[in-house]
Amino acid sequence: MSEQPAVDDGATARRPTAAKILFVGDVVGGAGRRALLRLLPELRERHDPTFVVVNGENIAGGLGITPKLAEELFAAGIDAITLGNHAYHRREIIPYIENEPRLLRPVNYVHTQPGRGTCIVESASGVRLGVVSASGNLFLRAGHPAFSEVDRAVRELGDVEHILVDFHAEATSEKVAMGWYLDGRVTAVVGTHTHVPTADARVLPGGTAYITDVGMTGARAGVIGVDRDKAITGFVTQMHTHLEPAAADPWLMAVLIESSQRLRADAILPLLIAAPA
Ligand SMILES: [Fe+2]
Ligand SMILES: [Fe+2]
Repeated sequence: MSEQPAVDDGATARRPTAAKILFVGDVVGGAGRRALLRLLPELRERHDPTFVVVNGENIAGGLGITPKLAEELFAAGIDAITLGNHAYHRREIIPYIENEPRLLRPVNYVHTQPGRGTCIVESASGVRLGVVSASGNLFLRAGHPAFSEVDRAVRELGDVEHILVDFHAEATSEKVAMGWYLDGRVTAVVGTHTHVPTADARVLPGGTAYITDVGMTGARAGVIGVDRDKAITGFVTQMHTHLEPAAADPWLMAVLIESSQRLRADAILPLLIAAPA
């Protein structure tokens, strides 16, 4: 048996690769925020996630995010926050997002839109996770094509142990296609935006964990997190209706991605948990 020459590829060879990534679907309003913050300690104890990433595009009263709410999530140990079509709904986030590298808007927005679409966070043990926020192009406004921009973002993240892509998109077809497009190149592709969890979580043949939609963390008694009477009135009257987040029956919807090898997932476990009242 011939001996393999030792390959020295620097720091990467010495870094651990095992990681558990907890990704939490769109946190909607106060009900979603409270559900997340109440359940997080228990989730940490049970699953010991290396990283926690949260989609926060609906956390401020259902639309957008404020600096104070972002700070509250970071103070709770959230490693990175992804956004989507409601990223800039609260104007006060604009100066904040310019200076907070862990708060991401979709990477395929035009460069003049504030903020950035990727970041790298590092665990205490030295595992690096690249996070990509991206927006679909079908039924959503994003200045650049998702596929080419995500491709570029993944290449630019370079030498990291793991990459998580939050693909914030409306159409299931676009999300499934993104999963296949990135299979074998990233640790996980998780879909967000519809607020309804899908039953297709799996590890694709190339090793990428995939789910079309993680679901939302918010009040299940509403219509995708919004007060149901107001939502129904809007559909019935066909008039503009002021929508507010619902409060009753809060649930946390998330996935736990387990990995032992670089840029590969071993398993993806959906977590659908009723929050304590
Ligand atoms: Fe959302
Ligand atoms: Fe959205």
